[in-house]
Amino acid sequence: MSYPASRPRRLRKTPALRALVRETVLHPKDFVYPLFVVAGRGVSQPIASMPGQRRLSPDLAAEEARRVFDLGVQAVLLFGIPEHKDAVGSAAYHKEGVVPQAVRAIAKAAPAMVIMTDVCLCEYTDHGHCGLVEKGEVLNDATLELLAKQAVVHAQAGAHVVAPSDMMDGRVGYIREELDDEGLENTAIMAYSVKYASAFYGPFREAAESAPAFGDRQSYQMDPANQSEAMREAMLDEEEGADILMVKPAGPYLDIVRAVREATDLPLAAYQVSGEYAMIHAAAERGWIDLERAMMESLVGIKRAGADIIISYFAPRAAERLR
Ligand code: PBG
Repeated sequence: MSYPASRPRRLRKTPALRALVRETVLHPKDFVYPLFVVAGRGVSQPIASMPGQRRLSPDLAAEEARRVFDLGVQAVLLFGIPEHKDAVGSAAYHKEGVVPQAVRAIAKAAPAMVIMTDVCLCEYTDHGHCGLVEKGEVLNDATLELLAKQAVVHAQAGAHVVAPSDMMDGRVGYIREELDDEGLENTAIMAYSVKYASAFYGPFREAAESAPAFGDRQSYQMDPANQSEAMREAMLDEEEGADILMVKPAGPYLDIVRAVREATDLPLAAYQVSGEYAMIHAAAERGWIDLERAMMESLVGIKRAGADIIISYFAPRAAERLR
């Protein structure tokens, strides 16, 4: 008898054999593509720390949405960068703000596209925090009202899904109620349920000009060391009426993705954030890793961990590879 009897390599011999036993398969429809929207027309500004990503005015965001839809990416997540920021983030809940404009333009250019919007104040406040600030503290309950206003404005413009990323307590329930009161009971909520206070948001903050002017976000975003707390956050959002839960960042938190997956029957999203994207690009630029392979490996890892939905700046590029 030959040794060993068990030879897993048998099934790795040819591409077809490997395909036959492959357990996790990515599909373009798994992806959500984030877009940064600025005011104006015909505006396209490259973001240095996120190669290939740009800030786009609503008209060009619509063109980009059309392009990625044709590649099979059927959902976008919009971030607004307003012209003027102030202490209360007024531009966040303006009916003619950049996000409502982009929502309408995208709905026209790509009518079947799922349009999601980020709901948060940090891109709109001059202090860069995700809520109202008083005496150096980020207020919880007073912020809820503004977030709900923003969510309603986005939903009225036609967003299918609003995605609160602020990490205030009770915001999912509060937003749900306000949406329902406005007759927007069919607008879904994707909650950034488990959002860690992460260094990996660095490039995003450059893109959105949203770095906090003082302090950091540790009084509202989660401690990277915690898992039990992640479960509590996820369950609270589920009870408050979230339709989709999210873990963010993705790569460094795959254990959390798996744990939340096992605790809920709701669809689960994971956000491969700007720093994860930038790292892969930076290493590839130096010739240290293969960009395409590292991209696909990072994405399949997120799906294998249990995410149904992957939010990633790689979405169109990965979709192209999957065709
Ligand atoms: C907050 C928000 C952030 C990201 C998404 N929503 C930044 C933050 O919390 O500082 C980060 C996304 C990324 O890094 O790609 N509105």
